[in-house]
Amino acid sequence: MEVIVFPDYAKLSVYAAQMMATQIGNKATSVLGLATGGTPVQTYQELVGLHREEGLSLSEVTTFNLDEYWGLSGSHPASYRYYMWENLFRHVDVPMEQVHIPHGDAPDAMEECRRYEGLLSELGPIDLQILGIGNNGHIGFNEPGTEFGSITALIDLTPDTIAANARFFEASEDVPRQAISMGIKSIMQARQIVLLASGASKAEAVAKAVTGPVSTALPASILQLHPQCTFLLDEAAASGIDNGEGLAVKRM
Ligand code: GLP
Repeated sequence: MEVIVFPDYAKLSVYAAQMMATQIGNKATSVLGLATGGTPVQTYQELVGLHREEGLSLSEVTTFNLDEYWGLSGSHPASYRYYMWENLFRHVDVPMEQVHIPHGDAPDAMEECRRYEGLLSELGPIDLQILGIGNNGHIGFNEPGTEFGSITALIDLTPDTIAANARFFEASEDVPRQAISMGIKSIMQARQIVLLASGASKAEAVAKAVTGPVSTALPASILQLHPQCTFLLDEAAASGIDNGEGLAVKRM
């Protein structure tokens, strides 16, 4: 695992967008795994900038989003489908038929999970997976305790996660209690993984993920076992890491 620390969130975001652009430059038909949440917002803005100003085309790219709230349709402003449209897809040239996000309003959750996992097997593997990290170490919506062998599933959100995401809703009672998420196995199958974390609220989870034991108690710790995984952190998110014991931390 490689860890790169940036002086601030803006520089981290520029670097992450560059990594995505390099991937697309090397392979126009790349399959990208995308994350939502506050952290990747500026990465997507930078990517839009590269599309507008440097002619980066996403026209042959296929995308898979990690997760979606169960019970929200894509027209709900807090849905991840809406987020992706607003933050990225409406500004770039990826055809929407190449965009895949679990349907939060599908008639049957189990069937939707099967459909999504099937699409991943058919169109994958993901070349570059972007991840955020929850305060409790979750990746996608794979909460602590999720089996490492898990595939796309309907997840019960923890009170922690509901509280952390309440800022995107009018009231915390409005936060859905469940979500469809790609599983940990589905995520680990990506050829390359880039995890973004910013701010002191992530410091503890990040430190445990990079130097703690690999344990289902902290889902992101599994990333230590991935052959090509990079953590991009700002100073605050990196502040809990005890530099030592063979962990190569690069500062940019
Ligand atoms: C949500 C998402 C995750 C995301 C995490 C962190 O729970 N399902 O994919 O990584 O929140 O979000 P933020 O970047 O807003 O801190």
